[in-house]
Amino acid sequence: TFPKQVKIVEVGARDGLQNEKNIVSTSTKIKLIDMLSEAGLPVIEATSFVSPKWVPQMADCAEVLKGIQKFPGINYPVLTPNIKGFQAAVAAGAKEVTIFAAASELFTKKNTNCSIDESLQRSDDIFRAARAAGIPVRGYVSCVLGCPYEGKISPAKVVEVTKKIYSMGCYEISLGDTIGVGTPGVMKDMLSAVMHEVPVSALAVHCHDTYGQALANTLMALQMGVSVVDSSVAGLGGCPYAQGASGNLATEDLVYMLSGLGIHTGVNLQKLLEAGTFICQALNRKTSSKVAQATCKL
Ligand code: HMG
Ligand code: MG
Repeated sequence: TFPKQVKIVEVGARDGLQNEKNIVSTSTKIKLIDMLSEAGLPVIEATSFVSPKWVPQMADCAEVLKGIQKFPGINYPVLTPNIKGFQAAVAAGAKEVTIFAAASELFTKKNTNCSIDESLQRSDDIFRAARAAGIPVRGYVSCVLGCPYEGKISPAKVVEVTKKIYSMGCYEISLGDTIGVGTPGVMKDMLSAVMHEVPVSALAVHCHDTYGQALANTLMALQMGVSVVDSSVAGLGGCPYAQGASGNLATEDLVYMLSGLGIHTGVNLQKLLEAGTFICQALNRKTSSKVAQATCKL
């Protein structure tokens, strides 16, 4: 059985843009996020407070977070890799932060220049500061269905890392198929293992669509009781440290499917499509959303 209601976490402004070679203007990022707010997305990941040497596209994180309209009832979490990022995020007005970990040592090294244990230590510094400041912390575990450097990842490793950041204080953990290699069967096995240790109400899925499996994998997760799904407007997305990883599940396609299933999201598809058209024009690229392509009137 499916959940009655699904919370969509829109990651287009962060995951979607972090991989773009050409620097997108701050005003374009702000306009995109404001349009996504207008469309009724309940959670919009706004930016990342990461090192600008590592991800130049996110160098304007403070300006973006300060510049967006904050709609009542909408959360605008930001990624923070370390305490420096956390402090900068809070100074720029962040009310929620997201830490990121991975179930692969090699990916962790490439993405954050440290081991899994060190990354958890950095997260622990963030948890302590966040608790003191009353700031909720969301978490990612990347490479849950495969790693660009290590190949297969065992569900046991995913369970281990997920359990750790849950007990450290993440209220919600998004399980990332970073390179989109998973299929519904392995999604089911991985999720069953994680659900033994962490309540399903605290889990989300974050599927990249590299192999065209994102919607199918997400549907499997929904069937298993997951009710929080990450997706990206126009199917933008990718990770600079996971070569070949393409975009996320397109939010338009997710909203269309959920609406067909009678599952409530609160998202206005028409306004969402407008946000997708806006960012695709700004990036001078074609949308990856099938729904947007189908709706497009020539
Ligand atoms: P490092 O080089 O080991 O760190 O990077 P460092 O402490 O030696 O610092 C190097 C320089 O960066 C210093 O500046 C620091 O001050 C500065 P310098 O002294 O040379 O002028 N610095 C910072 N500046 C701003 N904000 C900060 C910050 N920290 C250090 N927070 C570090 C380590 C973690 C910082 C780096 O590796 C990094 O920023 N990595 C982020 C990579 C990233 O953003 N990846 C994409 C997000 S994860 C993802 O996409 C997956 C996901 O979508 C889920 C999925 O799909 O699976 C979430
Ligand atoms: Mg991602």
